[in-house]
Parts: sequence; C-alpha cells; structure tokens
Amino acid sequence: MKTFIDTGFVDTPAPRALGIEEIPGVVEQYRAGALNAIAAGFDGVEIHGANGYLVEQFLRDGVNRRADAYGGTVENRCRFLLEVTDAVCAAVGAQRTAVRLSPFSVTWDCSDSDPKPLYSHAVAQLATRDLAFLEVVEAINEAGDISSGGASNAFNITHILAAYNGRLVINGGYDAVRAEAVLARPGIDAVSFARPFICNPDLAERFARGAPLTPMADPAVIYGGGEAGYIDFARMAG
Ligand SMILES: Cc1cc2nc3c(=O)[nH]c(=O)nc-3n(C[C@H](O)[C@H](O)[C@H](O)COP(=O)(O)O)c2cc1C
Repeated sequence: MKTFIDTGFVDTPAPRALGIEEIPGVVEQYRAGALNAIAAGFDGVEIHGANGYLVEQFLRDGVNRRADAYGGTVENRCRFLLEVTDAVCAAVGAQRTAVRLSPFSVTWDCSDSDPKPLYSHAVAQLATRDLAFLEVVEAINEAGDISSGGASNAFNITHILAAYNGRLVINGGYDAVRAEAVLARPGIDAVSFARPFICNPDLAERFARGAPLTPMADPAVIYGGGEAGYIDFARMAG
C-alpha cells in the first residue's frame, strides 16, 4: 500500500490497533477539527465514515479484531462512529454535522462479514442525532470506478431507507437524468457528485441549463499527485 506525500509515493506504515486509552484523544481530534473548520468559515463538517478510513476500520469485522468495548458486537463496532459524531455535534451543532458511509463497497480490504445488521444499527443510531444529513455512497471501488460494489438484492439502499428517517444524500455514478429519477424516491433528499465536478466546476449550472459536460478525466492520470486529470481538461464553450 502506498500513499502520496510531498516527496512522492511512499510505503504506508503497517497499521496497528489503537490502545483503548488513546481513543478519547482521537475523538478529541475530530472535535477540534470540526471546530477549526467552522472557525475557518465552513458551513458544516462531514465525518468520514466511509471507504476504508479510520471510522470504517472500527465498523467492519474484517479489520476490527478488538476484544474491548470497541470490537465484537455491532453495537461495540459502532461505538467509535457514534462517539465521534456526538463529540462533533456537541462542538458545532448537529445541524452543521453530516456523516458519510459506504455500506455496499469494500475499499482497501476493509470488509465486513454481515454488513446489513451493522449498517442498519449504525444508521438507526445516527437517525436519533438529527444530523444535517447522512451521505451514503452506493457503489465505488478503490480505483474510482463504479462497480456493483457490495450492493445486492440482500442489502441495498432500500434497507438504509428503512432504518434512517433523517435527511439522506446518495452518491456514486449518477448523472443528471439518473439523479432526477432517484430523487423521486421517498426518503432520498439529494444526490452528490464527485468526478463530474472535477472537469465541470460549473456542474450545477450545466445541469440546470441541460448543457453538455466536459468528459470525465481518464482514471489512469488521477490520484497521481500532479495536476494531470484535474486542471488540464479542455474547456468547452458556454
Ligand atoms: C480523485 C478522487 C478522489 C477521491 N477521494 C475520496 C476520499 O478521499 N474519500 C472519499 O470518501 N471518497 C473519495 N472519492 C470518491 C468520491 O467522493 C465519490 O464517492 C465517487 O467518486 C463516486 O461519486 P461520483 O460517481 O459522483 O464520482 C474520490 C474520488 C475521486 C475521483
């Protein structure tokens, strides 16, 4: 596994489990980060609980091997997510706090043996927090390509909708037409876009006008640490 820093790609250190005494300090870092973001002028913060990052490493039993209050049962594995969420909500307000989850996909081998009860519990608990919104990534693999992910008839957005009654944003592989169609579904409040925005900074205006989009960047050139694929796209008239 590699990560990109100012000197280029370097090997990542081997991960280790946090000591239980370290966890309050990490929760505090989320709280402080949220306060800093608001102080810097952001409208709100989104807690990253998706795509193999730290919160998801607590959630999923393919990675979380803990034998303490943060491992084992679904309730225990959701504890860190909920502690972080509660700390951030207390600091900046629930109406400025969102959470991002990716229940249906596996990133960096961060898998779970039975995601449906895990995420049903997580989103039911989040629903009691009256967040600004919950964002659910429907399908993405680590190459940035939309695939079937882990979504199946056995576990899909319908199950999230059944367990979550707050504001819901969904993401992953949408265009304007599919987004309009999915917004007709009760319980889905908005669709978020990532890749189309990279080469269409005026995406919302283009959607509103029905204007053509600059094609998305070649996935082979993004994630490389340089500008290629981000700011070198051909500009289209109007
Ligand atoms: C260059 C690039 C970087 C991304 N980095 C992250 C990331 O750090 N965390 C994350 O949750 N998703 C990340 N994503 C995924 C997007 O947030 C989004 O979920 C995904 O691209 C699917 O949405 P889209 O089809 O609208 O692009 C990244 C996507 C791209 C293209």
